[in-house]
Amino acid sequence: MCGIVGYIGKAAAPPILLHGLRRLEYRGYDSAGMAIIDGRQLLVSKAPGKVANLKEKSKCEWPAELFSQPSYGIAHTRWATHGPPTEANAHPHRDQSGEIALVHNGIIENYRSLRARLEAKGHVFLSETDTEVLAHLIGDRYEENLFQAVCDALHQVEGTFGIAVISSREPGLIITARRGSPIVLGIGDGETIIASDAAAILAHTQRVIYLDDNDIAIVKADHVEIRDLNNVPVNRAVAELELDASAAEKGGFAHFMLKEIHEQPESLRNAIRGRLDFALGSSVLSGMGTSPRELAEINRIVLVGCGTSLHSGLIGEYAFEDLADTPAEVQQAAEFRYRNPIIGRSDLVIAISQSGETADTLAAVREANQKGAFVMGLCNVVGSTIARETGRGIYLHAGPEISVASTKAFTCQVAVLLMMALKMGRSRRFSRQEGMDFARQIEAIPSLVAQVIAQNDHIARIAESYAANEHAFFIGRGPMYPVALEGALKLKEISYIHAEGYHAAELKHGPIALLEKGTPVIALANDIPGKDKTLGNIEECKARGARILGLITAGDEEAAAVMDDVIEIPACHPLVATIPSAVALQLFAYHIARIRGCEIDQPRNLAKSVTVE
Ligand code: G6P
Repeated sequence: MCGIVGYIGKAAAPPILLHGLRRLEYRGYDSAGMAIIDGRQLLVSKAPGKVANLKEKSKCEWPAELFSQPSYGIAHTRWATHGPPTEANAHPHRDQSGEIALVHNGIIENYRSLRARLEAKGHVFLSETDTEVLAHLIGDRYEENLFQAVCDALHQVEGTFGIAVISSREPGLIITARRGSPIVLGIGDGETIIASDAAAILAHTQRVIYLDDNDIAIVKADHVEIRDLNNVPVNRAVAELELDASAAEKGGFAHFMLKEIHEQPESLRNAIRGRLDFALGSSVLSGMGTSPRELAEINRIVLVGCGTSLHSGLIGEYAFEDLADTPAEVQQAAEFRYRNPIIGRSDLVIAISQSGETADTLAAVREANQKGAFVMGLCNVVGSTIARETGRGIYLHAGPEISVASTKAFTCQVAVLLMMALKMGRSRRFSRQEGMDFARQIEAIPSLVAQVIAQNDHIARIAESYAANEHAFFIGRGPMYPVALEGALKLKEISYIHAEGYHAAELKHGPIALLEKGTPVIALANDIPGKDKTLGNIEECKARGARILGLITAGDEEAAAVMDDVIEIPACHPLVATIPSAVALQLFAYHIARIRGCEIDQPRNLAKSVTVE
């Protein structure tokens, strides 16, 4: 959601904080701010809009020496929850005395009652945020020990937080804590970097410590001490980041999204590498941590996720039922714990999350753990909260995904789900030969995707003639139905075109009323079971004047004849075909958004990682 950076060391803090914020801007970008301690003086600068605005504003407000002489501080890029993205609502927030500054990611749920109590004591608030209440609460408890004041305040808080706090009364110190919102400490040489995401740390060090929930750290330039909220010391291991800084650069592409689309053959290769066992006709997924015996005891699979990760789960549902004869269902993570789900020890719950931090998905993991189910995580970010709390699971190895609209994480999620289904299939109905055949299909995925990416220019040309429409429908059936949902989501996220994904057969039960001459219908008409029925549905749309872009299997002339425009998808197993088809729709959405001049990597109102419910 929001991004947090803190720096304490030998260098000047502002340039480092601004650089870190740029790295985290994909997490939230409606306003930004930073606070530094220069000697014994607390200085705060904030600006609505992008980090570039903050850079300019702080350069006007602060003397030039501050950008070169040693200082330390904290910074934040916001995704608004309480109050619009104004300068007043931007973080850092100060306490009543003005000596303390705080940045916060998460939500203080009882902020109203806390605020009323503090107002009764004479506190005056300058913003509409829950965060300012926490800053005042800390100030209210502050006598001479900032650590103790933060502990006391956090004991009174309900909700989630990742915070960093500084005080001009105790120079040389940053206090940081987490509950539900990630905090990572980068341990450098005589310097420490605090961040909500390792992306802001990469440029400084590969050595990191992940805080656990209810950890609070006393951070100095050359020393870090971690305790729990009851002041009991805790030990957290130092881990090595496996990312390299160049992964966070655009590498010659106009946008991160385009770069990440093009990276897919490589990221899929990384997701698949070493995980297929052709001799056994199965997959090797040691992170699942289940013996064949335990796998055989699983009676049902429940997949949970949000957004794009929910859509990969929907494809997984088809895969587990089709390949592994196991009843599978997808539940929206946001609903899962509130519906008191009926799950137990013979159920496998798979939590799918690129970031591994999505609040609703994490809550679903905790609920499933409570109910005694097998719980696995399918995450991209190594060391993320969901990956750690599930204990077992499979990393995607897609590499850092910066663009808010998910692309390579989605296709790697589907590839990993197919490998999981293959493994379960082998413990059930698949013969060795059938397993081998399907493993070969999975092995081919990177090259199938490369064949679609090779059509980039063709897809860009097609996009020209669809970019002016304000509405679009995506239809598909079988495993292509979730691909239709994902195609529509991609388009609406980045181009702001109103796009709906529908099962091909459902269109006539309502949405067909919206079709007019020229309304785009993007039809997933791959040559898979049910194609003839989809072609029939397309005819129904054409009869009402719709313009049809068909995704068809390469060389399928019968299907091509029905379409106005065509993108060819290489022939492959229907479940496998979901991946190259999704890639074609990613490119389609990308080019439409580009033609419309949209902010592709940071679409309005969205955030990459949603750590609030
Ligand atoms: C946000 C992002 C989506 C993403 C969803 C789930 O809404 O904008 O792109 O699909 O969160 O994120 P996760 O990290 O759990 O996959």
